[in-house]
Amino acid sequence: MFTESGWFESVAQAQRRAKKRLPKSVYAALVAGSERGITASDNTAAFAELGFAPHVAGLSNERELSTTLMGQPLSFPVMISPTGVQAVHPSGEVAVARAAAARGISMGLSLFASKPIEEVVAANPRTFFQVHWVGSRELLAHMLDRARSAGAVGLIVTVDWSFSEGRDWGSPVIPERLDARAMLRLAPEALARPRWLARWARSGTLPDLTAPNLAPPGKPAPTFFAAYREWKSTPLPTWEDIAWLREQWDGPFMLKGISRVDDALRAVDAGVTAISVSNHGGNNLDGSPASIRALPAIAEAVGDQVEITLDGGIRRGSDVAKALALGARAVLIGRAYLWGLAGDGQAGVENVLDILRVGLDSAVLGLGHASVHTLGPSDVVVPPGFARADRLAGPVHPTPDRSSEFVSEKLIRARPSREG
Ligand SMILES: Cc1cc2nc3c(=O)[nH]c(=O)nc-3n(C[C@H](O)[C@H](O)[C@H](O)COP(=O)(O)O)c2cc1C
Repeated sequence: MFTESGWFESVAQAQRRAKKRLPKSVYAALVAGSERGITASDNTAAFAELGFAPHVAGLSNERELSTTLMGQPLSFPVMISPTGVQAVHPSGEVAVARAAAARGISMGLSLFASKPIEEVVAANPRTFFQVHWVGSRELLAHMLDRARSAGAVGLIVTVDWSFSEGRDWGSPVIPERLDARAMLRLAPEALARPRWLARWARSGTLPDLTAPNLAPPGKPAPTFFAAYREWKSTPLPTWEDIAWLREQWDGPFMLKGISRVDDALRAVDAGVTAISVSNHGGNNLDGSPASIRALPAIAEAVGDQVEITLDGGIRRGSDVAKALALGARAVLIGRAYLWGLAGDGQAGVENVLDILRVGLDSAVLGLGHASVHTLGPSDVVVPPGFARADRLAGPVHPTPDRSSEFVSEKLIRARPSREG
């Protein structure tokens, strides 16, 4: 049930609102996981497998939630993960950036975003710019120069979205441009969502299907699909390319998409400031385990050398507490804020951030801590076999081959149906 004011009290409510408000294909693009959606589902299911070990007396009346990440203060340990949010809301990433600024957290802006970096940094000076390895070294250097001039406080390099695209449920059809033909085709879906249409009508614009941050020097911004095609046709980066990119950015640098210890060690060698343990919200190789399963081994291996974040499946403040207890310094969120944005623009994103902050505070309270910084493994009950570490550790933690357990019958039967 939504409250009378339209305020939602859980991320699940925000998701239901997004489902009601967005055209079917836009909503489908948000919840999408690749292929069978095993990893997308496991990202949330794995959090449900973790329990808490609460205390009941001697609890702290005040709790410290603030931290820093890549040199930026966070009022609580959550950051906006970069996503292309075309068509969700006319204010798009600018509304998200404003909400993040209002709640004292950093913003991650996607290379494929619908708003230019300059506008987003103006809305939230703590904006990190995210790139994929796309085009050429010249194009990348140009984009980095632009981000630097715009005032981006750091760089996020995403390396985990390279492979599978096929979706068993069929990917939504997104037009290259919103010309008359495309609009006619999408009309039945859009007309079924009058509030979404009214929002765009009031803004006097149409969903912008360009990628303004990918404009080559002196040229107009490509369409989203032209940018996507360019990225897909770019030869894949080597570790030397990552090290080269790191040299081009004199400031905080996150490598996003790590799910194995050996890759985490290579990231350390490349000189990164931070890594995000991530599988792109279940949009990389389907069957990769939830990122929270991969976190403990990675945190143990490199947590004293780089800052560790996690993204994938965060839907509650208690999920944030679990990730912190298992070694993350902070988490990044994707779908949760996109649903808030779809539901109620900037206010909806603020609403989601408040849900996560309050939920985290309750968990810190119940676990008997006065600060997020003292959360640790003894706060969570981890079931046997949770980490599936044999698949993730790489050569540094050799263990017997139990790979058949990895996508086990149990996991497939236990997982909840696709979100939404
Ligand atoms: C619709 C959508 C678009 C995304 N676009 C990007 C992107 O452009 N760049 C990027 O680094 N990650 C992107 N991601 C991945 C997110 O940054 C993040 O890793 C993921 O959403 C975390 O999982 P969660 O949605 O369960 O929180 C996208 C995710 C979604 C759902």
